[in-house]
Amino acid sequence: MRMLALALFLLIPFFSSAQETKPAPKSGYYPVPVKAAREPNPVKPTPESIAQGKNIYSYDCASCHGVTGDAKAEVAKDLKVPDLTDPARLKDRTDGELFYIIKTGHGDMPPEGNRVKPEQLWDLVNYIRSLARKQPPPEPKPSN
Ligand code: HEC
Repeated sequence: MRMLALALFLLIPFFSSAQETKPAPKSGYYPVPVKAAREPNPVKPTPESIAQGKNIYSYDCASCHGVTGDAKAEVAKDLKVPDLTDPARLKDRTDGELFYIIKTGHGDMPPEGNRVKPEQLWDLVNYIRSLARKQPPPEPKPSN
């Protein structure tokens, strides 16, 4: 509940502008301020960056999102944790959006806030992108 209050508090400035907020059109959707969404990722997804991200992920994220990001962790069942290995999941998200979500948290997900430096948050973004990319492409159907 405190988390929710905090999330709402953080979002108030963005909602209180003249613009009405639309209700979430589909599950898993939530608005990220345009400015944050357009923030370019200054950290290239080098093996070093991804390794850094993986390290932080194992401490701060794996307990909910699962070691491989597949939401198979014990708590994932209760919290409706999204599957980060699903390539469709983050496809429409910009790096800026992911950065924002990780930094500010959402719903049952706690904010990473200032626990890590911005570069490390970008490392996390690079790492979770690599989780989806590892998904093998669907088997091509035999064309007979
Ligand atoms: C307490 C459990 C928990 C922890 C810890 C946690 N998450 Fe989450 N995460 C969630 C839940 C639950 C959601 C879905 C939130 C919602 O939809 O309101 C979520 C959503 C997300 C999303 C959004 C996915 C989408 O479809 O847009 C990303 C990205 C994400 N988490 C990454 C991370 C990263 C990176 C960390 C570590 C810094 C982390 N999470 C830590 C539970 C957690």
